[in-house]
Amino acid sequence: MQLTQKEMMYLKDAKSQEELCVAKYTNYSQQVSCQQLSSMLKQIGQHEQKHLQTVQQIMQGQMPNVSSSGGQQQGMQFGQLSAQQGGGGSMSMQASGGGQGQQQQHMQHQMQAGHSGSGMSSSMGGQPLNDKQICEDLLTTEKAVAGLYNTATFEFTNPQLRQVLAHIQQEEQDHAYQLYNYMAQKGWYQAQ
Ligand SMILES: [Fe+2]
Ligand SMILES: [Fe+2]
Repeated sequence: MQLTQKEMMYLKDAKSQEELCVAKYTNYSQQVSCQQLSSMLKQIGQHEQKHLQTVQQIMQGQMPNVSSSGGQQQGMQFGQLSAQQGGGGSMSMQASGGGQGQQQQHMQHQMQAGHSGSGMSSSMGGQPLNDKQICEDLLTTEKAVAGLYNTATFEFTNPQLRQVLAHIQQEEQDHAYQLYNYMAQKGWYQAQ
């Protein structure tokens, strides 16, 4: 299974967007003053890390094994997929229960790495972002990323990959909803 140039272009775009998401959620989770928000951001950051891995797997010509129950996604070659498809297993990435420990460790490394760099918000010499601004920035980011996956889903030829991308898009929607909920709870969100 070969990816078209166009598909590869979308994947590269998705990869850099997910890297940005991982960096933002990781950094912001350490910056915010609200503990509840901090753990929410940490958790979403782990999803973004998983998205990044999934996108990288697709770029390497693998079909992400999104239906496996937790653990690191092993992935399989495209060729193997058709053999497995007979089972009618629906692709669900929701099964993210297991492998949490491993991911946690990974995130910690990432955080340390991220922390040693210059602070994202204060590097301009201005005020650090407050919790509300951080939520707004993340919501904007999620909107953009969901839009990217939506377009990519239309452009991909392989139906399984379309499902994978649509599923990631669904998860981005869910992140936005979590952020919205938190903001509404604080009275920060004005519906237009
Ligand atoms: Fe993501
Ligand atoms: Fe997201």
